[in-house]
Amino acid sequence: MSPSESPVHAILGAELLLPVVVLDAVAAALPLGAAIRAGGLSSIEITLRTPSALAAIRALADEGDLVVGAGTVLTTAQAEEAVGAGASFIVSPGVSAKVVTWCRDAGIPVFPGVATPTDIQAALELGIDVVKFFPADVNGGVPAIKAFAAPFSDVKFVPTGGVSIQNLTSYLEHPAVLAVGGSWMVARPAIASQDWAGIAAAVAAAATVAVTARATAGRTPSGVAHG
Ligand code: 3PG
Repeated sequence: MSPSESPVHAILGAELLLPVVVLDAVAAALPLGAAIRAGGLSSIEITLRTPSALAAIRALADEGDLVVGAGTVLTTAQAEEAVGAGASFIVSPGVSAKVVTWCRDAGIPVFPGVATPTDIQAALELGIDVVKFFPADVNGGVPAIKAFAAPFSDVKFVPTGGVSIQNLTSYLEHPAVLAVGGSWMVARPAIASQDWAGIAAAVAAAATVAVTARATAGRTPSGVAHG
């Protein structure tokens, strides 16, 4: 299996969205997961930015309703802990050869973050052709992806950082975008106030916009152009 043919790559290519979560309370993990499912998505990235993150990954992975990944993974020790807790994919803000190599050796899909052509080449040298573009908005957004796609025609991007329901369509219309990631649909204040119905509605709204964006661009959800 090539590194870009894992189940999580297939889900992202089909659903076009990756909810990125900063979770303050472990108790919120399962209701949040249920809200994401109710909104129509089946993956989640839990960032290792809070003391609750690993326990939340474990709770959601044990429940088995979502494909659960760990984000903000900076070290191989964190990757190992996250996978031990049940994470089935790893996301990093940058390209760490150590983290990518650890994941590849463990058979775990990994999305290193890139912001420059040098980063993309580093990822390619490590055998990775689906990368997180981070932070997407402040690094040029869609025009940057257009520019990257010329020399790196086989690379797919998961732009994250500053993506919202307002600019989602413009990202998804570009054929080099596999999916977009973001916290707007699983906002920290909404989680804190246990607004599960609101989160499910935000996820559903994003999913509708995503599918419409792809249809308008004349492409199937898997990213394959028609005709
Ligand atoms: C990430 O770690 O990918 C970002 O913090 C998510 O960015 P956003 O909060 O702007 O969506």
